[in-house]
Amino acid sequence: ENSRVIFSGIQPTGIPHLGNFLGALLNWVRLQNDAKANDKLLFSIVGWHALTLPQDPRMLSAARREMLAVLLAIGLDPNRSIIFFQEDNSHHAELAWVFNCMTPMGWLKRMTTWKSRLATSRNANDESEVDESLLNAGLFTYPVLQAADILLYKTTHVPVGEDQQQHIELCRDIADTFNRTYKGSTPFFVLPEYMITRTPRVLSLKDPTAKMSKSSPDQMSRILLTDPPDLIKAKIRRAVTDSIVGVTYDPQGRPGAANLLTILAACTGEDITDVAARYHDKGHGHLKDDVTEAVEEMLREPRREFERIKGEKEYLASIAVIGATKARELSEVTMAQVRSTLGL
Ligand code: ADP
Ligand code: NA
Repeated sequence: ENSRVIFSGIQPTGIPHLGNFLGALLNWVRLQNDAKANDKLLFSIVGWHALTLPQDPRMLSAARREMLAVLLAIGLDPNRSIIFFQEDNSHHAELAWVFNCMTPMGWLKRMTTWKSRLATSRNANDESEVDESLLNAGLFTYPVLQAADILLYKTTHVPVGEDQQQHIELCRDIADTFNRTYKGSTPFFVLPEYMITRTPRVLSLKDPTAKMSKSSPDQMSRILLTDPPDLIKAKIRRAVTDSIVGVTYDPQGRPGAANLLTILAACTGEDITDVAARYHDKGHGHLKDDVTEAVEEMLREPRREFERIKGEKEYLASIAVIGATKARELSEVTMAQVRSTLGL
């Protein structure tokens, strides 16, 4: 079997929450630990993507360093994965420009993500409230930058959430357009595959009809990777459930309890129906105690590691240099080929 190139990215926009962890980051660690010797893995902290919404420079700077510390704390290993800041490798911007010049506006207009991101950033209740003419061009062409992130390393596999599937399809369309425009003896870009991952969708603890998200103003709606045990306990104790006696797994009718069962199953690695069966004649309080314990245990080591390395600025800077150097070595090959193909 051919070796794989796996790429994924995360924005430096604050400490990840339990949804980011169970839905994305934990999967990165698993992919790394299960990878074959000739697989390549790249995990990028994508600062240029973060700029598509307003950012305070000092907070962004701190958030970048924090995110690097988080990735190391959860078990990503710089000897096995290339961990780097996107903005340390200007090839991302260079290839994005090339792709911008090949991507029809119509394709970008069809993307649904910029509408919801714009709505969130303006605190609008509804996407239809958003005035499109206020949209910055970066937010609009964000998926093109994402395509460049991926194709720069001739990525074969992209592990991302369901919400990103549309962007991966666009990436494949862009790769295909490039391949057909500049026909060679072999296709220039490999069409990357979207890696479907069986990761859970974690819901808000305060409104279990919505996903757990960093954009909710209610701090109690999400558990952060670095929350101390007392805070984890308080947040889970106050999680919204219902007043029906006994616990059942019913995502439609009883989303609060279903969400707690989902979290517990994800922490213990069990099947959700097995977990649910154990709480059939128990109260929500009992379930919450066990969820608290499982979450605390799962986050204990990452939190300890994070506390240990978050202040180690020189160490973190050295890891970033190593990652950027390895990333540029790979992408320079692609960019040299792209420039000569284009006649530049
Ligand atoms: P947020 O919604 O908090 O802004 P992002 O959009 O930055 O999070 O998502 C980063 C990654 O985490 C993505 O891969 C996304 O699919 C995943 N993710 C975000 N929220 C959740 C959630 N509640 N449950 C599962 N995965 C999630
Ligand atoms: Na989001």
